Amino acid sequence: MTPVIQINPAHPEAQLIEQAAAIIRDGGLVAFPTETVYGLGADAMNEPAVARIFVAKGRPADNPLIVHVSDRRMLDQVAREISEQAEALIEAYWPGPLTLVLKRRPEVAPPVSAGLPTVAARMPNNAVALALIHAAHTAVAAPSANRSGRPSPTTAAHVLDDLGGRVEMILDGGATNIGIESTVLDMTGRVPMILRPGWITEAQVAAVTGAVTRAASLEALRRSPGTRYRHYSPRARVVLVEHDAAASLEAICKEYLKTATVGFIGHTPSAIKDANFQTIILHADAADYASNIYAALREMDERGATVIIIEGISDAGAGLAVMDRLRRAASEIVGA
Ligand code: TXA
Ligand code: MG
Repeated sequence: MTPVIQINPAHPEAQLIEQAAAIIRDGGLVAFPTETVYGLGADAMNEPAVARIFVAKGRPADNPLIVHVSDRRMLDQVAREISEQAEALIEAYWPGPLTLVLKRRPEVAPPVSAGLPTVAARMPNNAVALALIHAAHTAVAAPSANRSGRPSPTTAAHVLDDLGGRVEMILDGGATNIGIESTVLDMTGRVPMILRPGWITEAQVAAVTGAVTRAASLEALRRSPGTRYRHYSPRARVVLVEHDAAASLEAICKEYLKTATVGFIGHTPSAIKDANFQTIILHADAADYASNIYAALREMDERGATVIIIEGISDAGAGLAVMDRLRRAASEIVGA
Protein backbone atom coordinates (compact mmCIF):
# COMPACT_ATOMS: atom_id res chain seq x y z
CA MET A 1 0.00 0.00 0.00
CA THR A 2 1.11 3.55 -0.62
CA PRO A 3 2.74 5.23 2.40
CA VAL A 4 1.07 8.45 3.55
CA ILE A 5 3.76 10.61 5.15
CA GLN A 6 2.73 13.38 7.54
CA ILE A 7 4.83 16.45 6.86
CA ASN A 8 4.94 19.86 8.53
CA PRO A 9 3.11 22.16 6.08
CA ALA A 10 4.94 25.34 7.13
CA HIS A 11 8.42 23.88 7.77
CA PRO A 12 8.64 20.58 5.89
CA GLU A 13 11.20 18.19 7.40
CA ALA A 14 14.26 18.09 5.10
CA GLN A 15 14.71 14.35 5.47
CA LEU A 16 11.13 13.61 4.36
CA ILE A 17 11.46 16.01 1.43
CA GLU A 18 14.68 14.23 0.39
CA GLN A 19 12.94 10.83 0.45
CA ALA A 20 10.15 12.14 -1.77
CA ALA A 21 12.57 13.98 -4.09
CA ALA A 22 14.59 10.77 -4.55
CA ILE A 23 11.42 9.01 -5.76
CA ILE A 24 10.81 11.80 -8.31
CA ARG A 25 14.45 11.67 -9.51
CA ASP A 26 14.17 7.89 -9.93
CA GLY A 27 11.12 8.23 -12.18
CA GLY A 28 8.47 7.52 -9.53
CA LEU A 29 5.22 9.24 -8.57
CA VAL A 30 4.68 11.37 -5.45
CA ALA A 31 1.40 13.08 -4.53
CA PHE A 32 1.91 16.39 -2.71
CA PRO A 33 -0.13 19.35 -1.47
CA THR A 34 -0.28 22.68 -3.27
CA GLU A 35 -2.28 25.75 -2.27
CA THR A 36 -5.04 24.74 -4.74
CA VAL A 37 -5.48 20.94 -4.72
CA TYR A 38 -3.17 17.93 -4.28
CA GLY A 39 -0.99 17.19 -7.30
CA LEU A 40 0.37 13.89 -8.64
CA GLY A 41 4.00 14.61 -9.46
CA ALA A 42 6.64 13.10 -11.74
CA ASP A 43 9.87 14.41 -13.32
CA ALA A 44 8.62 16.51 -16.25
CA MET A 45 11.75 15.67 -18.29
CA ASN A 46 11.39 11.88 -17.90
CA GLU A 47 9.02 10.42 -20.48
CA PRO A 48 8.34 7.01 -18.86
CA ALA A 49 7.73 8.74 -15.50
CA VAL A 50 5.24 11.14 -17.07
CA ALA A 51 3.55 8.26 -18.89
CA ARG A 52 2.93 6.64 -15.51
CA ILE A 53 0.88 9.68 -14.40
CA PHE A 54 -1.60 9.05 -17.22
CA VAL A 55 -1.86 5.37 -16.29
CA ALA A 56 -2.29 6.03 -12.54
CA LYS A 57 -5.04 8.60 -13.15
CA GLY A 58 -6.71 6.83 -16.07
CA ARG A 59 -6.26 10.17 -17.84
CA PRO A 60 -6.82 10.51 -21.61
CA ALA A 61 -3.46 11.05 -23.35
CA ASP A 62 -4.80 14.13 -25.17
CA ASN A 63 -5.17 16.15 -21.94
CA PRO A 64 -1.87 17.93 -21.18
CA LEU A 65 -0.31 18.37 -17.71
CA ILE A 66 0.83 21.42 -15.74
CA VAL A 67 4.57 21.66 -14.99
CA HIS A 68 5.48 23.00 -11.55
CA VAL A 69 8.66 25.00 -10.86
CA SER A 70 10.20 26.18 -7.60
CA ASP A 71 11.95 29.30 -8.92
CA ARG A 72 11.91 31.60 -11.93
CA ARG A 73 15.13 30.14 -13.39
CA MET A 74 13.64 26.64 -13.54
CA LEU A 75 10.95 28.01 -15.87
CA ASP A 76 13.65 28.55 -18.51
CA GLN A 77 14.27 24.78 -18.56
CA VAL A 78 10.72 24.11 -19.78
CA ALA A 79 9.56 27.26 -21.62
CA ARG A 80 11.04 29.77 -24.05
CA GLU A 81 10.32 33.24 -25.46
CA ILE A 82 8.69 34.41 -22.24
CA SER A 83 7.07 37.76 -23.03
CA GLU A 84 7.19 40.92 -20.94
CA GLN A 85 3.50 40.44 -20.16
CA ALA A 86 4.19 36.94 -18.89
CA GLU A 87 7.08 38.23 -16.78
CA ALA A 88 4.80 40.88 -15.29
CA LEU A 89 2.21 38.23 -14.37
CA ILE A 90 4.92 36.06 -12.81
CA GLU A 91 6.13 39.05 -10.81
CA ALA A 92 2.59 39.81 -9.63
CA TYR A 93 1.15 36.36 -8.92
CA TRP A 94 3.88 33.74 -8.48
CA PRO A 95 4.10 31.74 -6.37
CA GLY A 96 0.35 31.34 -6.71
CA PRO A 97 -2.64 29.80 -8.52
CA LEU A 98 -1.89 31.15 -12.00
CA THR A 99 -0.75 28.74 -14.73
CA LEU A 100 0.78 30.23 -17.88
CA VAL A 101 0.70 28.46 -21.25
CA LEU A 102 3.98 29.27 -23.00
CA LYS A 103 6.11 27.95 -25.88
CA ARG A 104 7.71 24.71 -24.73
CA ARG A 105 11.31 23.67 -24.76
CA PRO A 106 12.05 20.35 -26.51
CA GLU A 107 13.52 18.85 -23.29
CA VAL A 108 10.06 18.59 -21.74
CA ALA A 109 8.78 15.01 -22.06
CA PRO A 110 6.32 15.13 -25.00
CA PRO A 111 3.36 13.48 -23.21
CA VAL A 112 3.35 16.44 -20.76
CA SER A 113 2.08 18.65 -23.57
CA ALA A 114 -0.05 15.95 -25.25
CA GLY A 115 1.50 16.81 -28.61
CA LEU A 116 1.02 20.59 -28.32
CA PRO A 117 3.90 23.01 -29.06
CA THR A 118 3.21 24.68 -25.70
CA VAL A 119 3.74 23.94 -22.02
CA ALA A 120 1.60 25.03 -19.05
CA ALA A 121 3.64 26.08 -16.00
CA ARG A 122 3.14 27.48 -12.54
CA MET A 123 4.96 28.03 -9.25
CA PRO A 124 2.76 26.73 -6.41
CA ASN A 125 2.44 28.77 -3.21
CA ASN A 126 2.99 25.88 -0.80
CA ALA A 127 6.12 25.21 1.26
CA VAL A 128 5.96 21.41 0.81
CA ALA A 129 5.52 21.66 -2.97
CA LEU A 130 8.33 24.21 -3.36
CA ALA A 131 10.74 22.23 -1.18
CA LEU A 132 9.98 19.00 -3.06
CA ILE A 133 10.54 20.53 -6.52
CA HIS A 134 13.69 22.29 -5.33
CA ALA A 135 15.13 19.07 -3.86
CA ALA A 136 14.22 17.06 -6.96
CA HIS A 137 16.32 19.50 -9.07
CA THR A 138 13.79 19.19 -11.86
CA ALA A 139 10.48 20.66 -12.95
CA VAL A 140 7.60 18.46 -11.78
CA ALA A 141 4.64 17.62 -14.01
CA ALA A 142 1.56 17.31 -11.80
CA PRO A 143 -2.12 17.07 -12.62
CA SER A 144 -4.64 17.02 -9.79
CA ALA A 145 -4.13 13.78 -7.84
CA ASN A 146 -7.58 12.26 -8.47
CA ARG A 147 -8.68 9.42 -10.74
CA SER A 148 -9.71 11.04 -14.02
CA GLY A 149 -13.26 12.43 -13.89
CA ARG A 150 -13.47 12.47 -10.07
CA PRO A 151 -13.54 15.58 -7.85
CA SER A 152 -10.05 16.99 -7.26
CA PRO A 153 -8.45 16.01 -3.93
CA THR A 154 -8.11 18.62 -1.19
CA THR A 155 -6.79 16.21 1.46
CA ALA A 156 -4.29 13.33 1.50
CA ALA A 157 -7.18 10.99 2.37
CA HIS A 158 -8.89 11.88 -0.93
CA VAL A 159 -5.67 11.03 -2.78
CA LEU A 160 -5.37 7.71 -0.97
CA ASP A 161 -8.99 6.84 -1.86
CA ASP A 162 -8.37 7.45 -5.56
CA LEU A 163 -4.71 6.49 -6.07
CA GLY A 164 -3.72 4.21 -3.18
CA GLY A 165 -1.49 1.42 -4.55
CA ARG A 166 -0.85 3.37 -7.77
CA VAL A 167 1.78 5.87 -6.53
CA GLU A 168 4.99 5.52 -4.49
CA MET A 169 4.24 8.11 -1.79
CA ILE A 170 1.63 10.61 -0.61
CA LEU A 171 2.90 13.65 1.33
CA ASP A 172 0.21 14.72 3.79
CA GLY A 173 0.50 18.45 4.44
CA GLY A 174 -3.10 18.88 5.61
CA ALA A 175 -6.07 20.31 3.73
CA THR A 176 -5.28 22.67 0.84
CA ASN A 177 -6.34 26.25 1.45
CA ILE A 178 -7.89 27.44 -1.83
CA GLY A 179 -9.56 24.17 -2.81
CA ILE A 180 -10.04 24.61 -6.56
CA GLU A 181 -7.47 24.49 -9.35
CA SER A 182 -5.36 27.32 -10.73
CA THR A 183 -6.39 29.75 -13.45
CA VAL A 184 -4.98 28.57 -16.81
CA LEU A 185 -3.97 31.51 -19.01
CA ASP A 186 -2.77 31.09 -22.60
CA MET A 187 0.07 33.56 -23.22
CA THR A 188 0.91 32.43 -26.76
CA GLY A 189 -1.53 34.73 -28.59
CA ARG A 190 -1.61 38.52 -28.92
CA VAL A 191 -4.05 38.86 -26.01
CA PRO A 192 -3.89 36.55 -22.95
CA MET A 193 -6.80 34.08 -22.96
CA ILE A 194 -8.31 32.36 -19.92
CA LEU A 195 -8.65 28.66 -20.76
CA ARG A 196 -9.78 27.66 -17.27
CA PRO A 197 -11.06 30.16 -14.68
CA GLY A 198 -9.49 29.87 -11.24
CA TRP A 199 -8.71 31.71 -8.06
CA ILE A 200 -6.82 34.48 -9.92
CA THR A 201 -9.69 36.34 -11.59
CA GLU A 202 -10.00 37.90 -15.03
CA ALA A 203 -9.85 41.34 -13.35
CA GLN A 204 -6.60 40.44 -11.59
CA VAL A 205 -5.05 39.37 -14.90
CA ALA A 206 -6.35 42.49 -16.66
CA ALA A 207 -4.88 44.68 -13.93
CA VAL A 208 -1.44 43.53 -15.11
CA THR A 209 -1.90 42.92 -18.84
CA GLY A 210 -4.64 45.38 -19.80
CA ALA A 211 -6.62 43.18 -22.16
CA VAL A 212 -7.66 39.58 -21.50
CA THR A 213 -10.13 37.28 -23.29
CA ARG A 214 -11.99 34.15 -22.30
CA ALA A 215 -12.12 30.90 -24.25
CA ALA A 216 -15.52 30.80 -25.94
CA SER A 217 -16.21 27.34 -24.52
CA LEU A 218 -16.98 28.84 -21.09
CA GLU A 219 -20.09 30.48 -22.48
CA ALA A 220 -20.86 27.46 -24.61
CA LEU A 221 -20.73 25.29 -21.50
CA ARG A 222 -23.57 27.12 -19.85
CA ARG A 223 -25.66 27.01 -22.99
CA SER A 224 -25.20 23.34 -23.85
CA PRO A 225 -24.54 21.38 -20.67
CA GLY A 226 -25.46 18.06 -22.30
CA THR A 227 -22.67 18.00 -24.83
CA ARG A 228 -19.59 18.67 -22.76
CA TYR A 229 -17.11 16.28 -21.25
CA ARG A 230 -18.03 15.18 -17.71
CA HIS A 231 -15.56 16.18 -14.97
CA TYR A 232 -15.11 16.72 -11.23
CA SER A 233 -17.92 14.23 -10.64
CA PRO A 234 -18.89 12.20 -7.60
CA ARG A 235 -20.69 8.88 -8.15
CA ALA A 236 -24.09 10.42 -7.46
CA ARG A 237 -25.93 12.40 -10.12
CA VAL A 238 -25.37 16.15 -9.65
CA VAL A 239 -28.19 18.65 -10.15
CA LEU A 240 -26.96 22.25 -10.14
CA VAL A 241 -29.44 25.01 -9.33
CA GLU A 242 -28.09 28.33 -10.65
CA HIS A 243 -28.31 31.20 -8.16
CA ASP A 244 -30.82 32.97 -10.42
CA ALA A 245 -32.94 29.87 -11.12
CA ALA A 246 -36.65 30.51 -11.62
CA ALA A 247 -37.79 27.36 -9.82
CA SER A 248 -37.68 27.26 -6.01
CA LEU A 249 -34.96 25.20 -4.38
CA GLU A 250 -37.43 23.61 -2.01
CA ALA A 251 -39.70 22.50 -4.85
CA ILE A 252 -36.74 20.94 -6.69
CA CYS A 253 -35.58 19.09 -3.54
CA LYS A 254 -39.10 17.79 -2.87
CA GLU A 255 -39.41 16.51 -6.42
CA TYR A 256 -36.14 14.52 -6.26
CA LEU A 257 -36.96 13.18 -2.81
CA LYS A 258 -39.80 11.16 -4.36
CA THR A 259 -37.34 8.88 -6.17
CA ALA A 260 -33.84 9.41 -4.72
CA THR A 261 -31.70 9.67 -1.62
CA VAL A 262 -30.97 13.36 -1.88
CA GLY A 263 -27.92 15.24 -0.68
CA PHE A 264 -28.09 19.02 -0.58
CA ILE A 265 -25.00 21.25 -0.72
CA GLY A 266 -25.78 24.95 -0.48
CA HIS A 267 -26.03 28.10 1.60
CA THR A 268 -29.80 28.18 2.23
CA PRO A 269 -30.65 25.71 5.00
CA SER A 270 -33.62 23.98 3.40
CA ALA A 271 -37.00 23.78 5.07
CA ILE A 272 -37.25 20.11 4.12
CA LYS A 273 -37.06 17.58 6.95
CA ASP A 274 -36.67 14.04 5.71
CA ALA A 275 -34.56 11.08 6.82
CA ASN A 276 -33.34 10.68 3.25
CA PHE A 277 -32.18 14.27 3.03
CA GLN A 278 -28.52 14.95 3.79
CA THR A 279 -27.32 18.55 4.01
CA ILE A 280 -23.94 20.31 3.95
CA ILE A 281 -24.32 24.06 4.47
CA LEU A 282 -21.67 26.50 3.22
CA HIS A 283 -21.33 30.28 3.35
CA ALA A 284 -22.57 31.99 0.18
CA ASP A 285 -19.13 33.15 -0.91
CA ALA A 286 -16.60 31.89 -3.44
CA ALA A 287 -13.90 31.23 -0.83
CA ASP A 288 -16.02 28.93 1.31
CA TYR A 289 -17.46 27.11 -1.70
CA ALA A 290 -13.98 26.69 -3.23
CA SER A 291 -12.38 25.25 -0.12
CA ASN A 292 -15.23 22.83 0.68
CA ILE A 293 -16.99 21.83 -2.50
CA TYR A 294 -14.85 18.87 -3.61
CA ALA A 295 -14.77 17.39 -0.11
CA ALA A 296 -18.55 17.87 0.14
CA LEU A 297 -19.13 15.98 -3.12
CA ARG A 298 -17.05 13.05 -1.88
CA GLU A 299 -18.77 13.18 1.51
CA MET A 300 -22.21 12.95 -0.09
CA ASP A 301 -21.12 9.80 -1.93
CA GLU A 302 -20.08 8.30 1.43
CA ARG A 303 -23.43 9.22 2.96
CA GLY A 304 -25.13 7.31 0.16
CA ALA A 305 -26.77 10.14 -1.74
CA THR A 306 -27.94 9.10 -5.21
CA VAL A 307 -28.72 12.66 -6.26
CA ILE A 308 -26.77 15.72 -5.05
CA ILE A 309 -28.57 19.03 -5.41
CA ILE A 310 -26.15 21.97 -5.33
CA GLU A 311 -27.20 25.56 -4.80
CA GLY A 312 -25.08 27.76 -7.07
CA ILE A 313 -23.54 31.13 -6.29
CA SER A 314 -22.99 34.24 -8.43
CA ASP A 315 -20.35 34.22 -11.20
CA ALA A 316 -18.81 37.41 -9.77
CA GLY A 317 -15.05 37.36 -9.10
CA ALA A 318 -13.75 33.89 -8.21
CA GLY A 319 -17.37 32.66 -8.15
CA LEU A 320 -16.91 32.00 -11.88
CA ALA A 321 -14.22 29.39 -11.17
CA VAL A 322 -16.41 27.61 -8.62
CA MET A 323 -19.41 27.66 -10.96
CA ASP A 324 -17.28 26.43 -13.89
CA ARG A 325 -16.39 23.30 -11.89
CA LEU A 326 -19.98 22.78 -10.74
CA ARG A 327 -21.38 23.15 -14.27
CA ARG A 328 -18.94 20.50 -15.47
CA ALA A 329 -19.81 18.19 -12.59
CA ALA A 330 -23.56 18.53 -13.21
CA SER A 331 -25.76 16.13 -15.16
CA GLU A 332 -28.56 18.67 -15.01
CA ILE A 333 -28.53 22.46 -14.64
CA VAL A 334 -31.61 24.36 -13.49
CA GLY A 335 -31.24 27.90 -14.80
CA ALA A 336 -33.12 31.19 -14.94
O1 TXA B 1 -4.13 24.07 -9.38
C1 TXA B 1 -3.80 23.33 -10.31
O2 TXA B 1 -3.64 23.76 -11.46
C2 TXA B 1 -3.55 21.85 -9.99
C3 TXA B 1 -2.37 21.75 -9.03
C4 TXA B 1 -1.98 20.33 -8.76
O3 TXA B 1 -1.31 22.50 -9.53
N1 TXA B 1 -3.31 21.09 -11.18
C5 TXA B 1 -4.29 20.80 -12.08
O4 TXA B 1 -3.89 19.99 -13.12
O5 TXA B 1 -5.43 21.21 -11.97
P1 TXA B 1 -4.91 19.26 -14.12
O6 TXA B 1 -4.07 18.35 -14.92
O7 TXA B 1 -5.99 18.66 -13.35
O8 TXA B 1 -5.39 20.39 -15.08
C6 TXA B 1 -4.50 20.91 -16.04
C7 TXA B 1 -5.24 21.86 -16.95
C8 TXA B 1 -6.14 21.12 -17.89
O9 TXA B 1 -7.32 21.87 -18.10
C9 TXA B 1 -5.27 21.08 -19.15
O10 TXA B 1 -6.04 20.94 -20.33
C10 TXA B 1 -4.59 22.44 -19.09
O11 TXA B 1 -4.30 22.61 -17.72
N2 TXA B 1 -3.32 22.45 -19.84
C11 TXA B 1 -2.16 21.83 -19.53
N3 TXA B 1 -1.22 22.05 -20.46
C12 TXA B 1 -1.78 22.84 -21.39
C13 TXA B 1 -1.32 23.40 -22.64
N4 TXA B 1 -0.08 23.21 -23.09
N5 TXA B 1 -2.19 24.15 -23.33
C14 TXA B 1 -3.44 24.37 -22.89
N6 TXA B 1 -3.95 23.85 -21.73
C15 TXA B 1 -3.13 23.10 -21.00
MG1 MG C 1 -7.71 17.80 -12.78
